Amino acid sequence: MTSSPTRKSIAALLAEARERTIALIAPLGDELLSRVYSELLSPLAWDLGHIANFEELWLVQTVGGRPPLHGELGHFYDAIENPRKERGALPILRDEDLRAYMNEVRVRTLAVLDEVDVGPDNPDRLLREGFVYEMLIAHELQHQETMLQLLQMLDVPYRPAEADPERFAPAPLEPGGTVRVEAGTHEIGAPARGFAYDNERPRHAVDLPAFEIDRTPVANGTYIEYMGETGAEPPMYWERDGDGWARTAMGVRVPVDPARPVVHVSWEEADTFARWAGKRLPSEFEWEAAAPRLDGVGGAWEWTSSDFLAYPGFEAFPYDEYSKVFFGDAYKVLRGASWATHPHVARPSFRNWDLPQRRQIFAGIRLANDSEGNPS
Ligand SMILES: [Fe+2]
Repeated sequence: MTSSPTRKSIAALLAEARERTIALIAPLGDELLSRVYSELLSPLAWDLGHIANFEELWLVQTVGGRPPLHGELGHFYDAIENPRKERGALPILRDEDLRAYMNEVRVRTLAVLDEVDVGPDNPDRLLREGFVYEMLIAHELQHQETMLQLLQMLDVPYRPAEADPERFAPAPLEPGGTVRVEAGTHEIGAPARGFAYDNERPRHAVDLPAFEIDRTPVANGTYIEYMGETGAEPPMYWERDGDGWARTAMGVRVPVDPARPVVHVSWEEADTFARWAGKRLPSEFEWEAAAPRLDGVGGAWEWTSSDFLAYPGFEAFPYDEYSKVFFGDAYKVLRGASWATHPHVARPSFRNWDLPQRRQIFAGIRLANDSEGNPS
């Protein structure tokens, strides 16, 4: 955000995020909300209760000093305590109870918001410039993307009121060639002011040798060529359709569009593809250094070659479980945003991460290579 948020702007964003959450699940009945589709994803009812419980924890209990509405309920919505594959069996809120809880928490959240100072001079870092509110708005918007990952697996057609099917797909690409970034020092990370997660800070200088990076992500057509040549597995949700490929997601089967970016490939697949193409994945620093010149951001998350590590001088804020417990060589960083990412949470310094074998996220590929020779 460029200007400091106000209580009014925060209330508007909270309402907008909730409206979008409700619109997303509106086409589904209670039975589908509770159904477990995959060990990798929570039932939607868990996501919904967790969104409300996280809001209660931070915006009502922590900021407002109020007791929890439902005693120990929070344990079942703790993402660290409860692995995704176990969430369907938890005694979580469902149906009417779930909707009532979401509404009751929101009423309390707005009552607390009326009492607090979200100005830039508040010495409380949690409230200064509305940090904790921005965090909760981002959290809800990011869970919408997780819920859209699950909605890919629906076995009945997903029919939202919003009829535009393009809303649920990455836009087609015009291949854009390659951009060269000269050797130099680049500022990486989020500036000190404005909302960002702890893992994006502190902003720091990174020296990079010259490199080249594609202007657009890899398209389905190129991936089909690669599969034909190597016998590689298709991306998740694809299947043979005569001589071509079809994709079944959200309960609807459509031919694969060769012009759209490839999505639902793992890091391992992305890395193998890059080698086949005679290139490599960019590091996350290369990605960020080149971001102002990149087209096609926002169709699919883009795998990078980088492990998810702390920046020098990292400080966990406001809690260790957002980033700190994930640092190390187990996770790979993704940059950019996907078609399912709300623009409010997309920014060049944003770091997403997942395990290298995962394909349920909306992840694609952008290629880079070392730059040889002198620029003319
Ligand atoms: Fe969460």
